[in-house]
Amino acid sequence: MKKINELDIKNKNIILRCDYNVPMEGNIIKDNSKIKKSIPTLRYLLNNNCKIVILSHLGRVKSEEDKQKKTLKYVGQELSNLLEREVKFVDKCTGEKVKEFVDSCNKGDIILLENTRIMDYPEKLESGNNLDLAKFWASLGDIFVNDAFGSVHRAHASTAGIAKFIPHCIGFLIEEELKNLSILVKNTPHPFCVFMGGAKVDDKLPIIKSLLNRCDFLLTGGGIANSFLKAKGADVGNSIATNDEGILAELKNLMDKYKGKIILPIDFTLDDGIIYDIGSKSLDLYKKYIDNSEIIFVNGTCGKFEDERFTEGTSGLFKILKNSNKKVIVGGGDTASAVKKFGYIDDFAFVSSGGGATLEYITDGKLAALEWMEL
Ligand code: 3PG
Repeated sequence: MKKINELDIKNKNIILRCDYNVPMEGNIIKDNSKIKKSIPTLRYLLNNNCKIVILSHLGRVKSEEDKQKKTLKYVGQELSNLLEREVKFVDKCTGEKVKEFVDSCNKGDIILLENTRIMDYPEKLESGNNLDLAKFWASLGDIFVNDAFGSVHRAHASTAGIAKFIPHCIGFLIEEELKNLSILVKNTPHPFCVFMGGAKVDDKLPIIKSLLNRCDFLLTGGGIANSFLKAKGADVGNSIATNDEGILAELKNLMDKYKGKIILPIDFTLDDGIIYDIGSKSLDLYKKYIDNSEIIFVNGTCGKFEDERFTEGTSGLFKILKNSNKKVIVGGGDTASAVKKFGYIDDFAFVSSGGGATLEYITDGKLAALEWMEL
């Protein structure tokens, strides 16, 4: 897999895959971090007098209505504001007209095509890594630069397929992410502490299993903690937790197998009998493990931190992590948003821009789209 400075990109036409899957409320971008993270690669390409065609997905497209609603138009405006230069937005991502328009543009132009996942309805061409689609996108440039770290756990036409047709490399963001996250895959210092929170225990089971093999302590919060508690026979009422009997049985087995390694909260903030956050005694307990560790990986939050009544667990955990002066690596997605919300974004060794991608990478050191970049 080549890095961007290992290919001759001067005066070339570049297809650049970014992850601009940003949280939106209507036309408003709620967090522009992912757009900001794409700037170093864009500046490098501009300094090398490239024409840049950007591809990205936004959300999931499952209907005609999604095709209209999930537009990258506002991302284009934000990118233009950040770069202080024009970004030419094209409201399609395939077809003769797109090709003609791109061909008519000049070196130094930035063109953002519409959401690649509009090609997922009615047929899943983008997500299905349709190679005709990938070939079309490859036809728009000389070199494919993949910098969409948050999306490289998916081998889709725009993240993987294009690499089959033209020379390719990774951009600065992917390079930086791999450099910083690799310590969680190989030669990890010990004691290695993991905090896992958030809602989706069913999705996170493979990573929990993989990390339990390698870490010294697994601290838990949110739906993950509730699910372990439920598996132990505690009554968590209607709190977020898995209902899958098979998963509950697996969680129970894990607690038997890794006795003393899985640390559950001991007090909670409740509303109407529902657990929404962990309490101060749990934080005191977690502090002991954190202070006794060399490195801590944080994925997920302690509770419903978006609600002002339930911020204490998550913000308290971040404060403990900051004051510990230990190497703290934070997984992306919601966790990164929470870190930003509580003002700790500059206090940790590394905050990843990837959610699922980060987890997949640290599970086995592999990312599906990057396997295509090896070819
Ligand atoms: C993300 O935000 O995690 C990435 O953009 C991937 O999005 P996806 O889960 O819809 O593929």
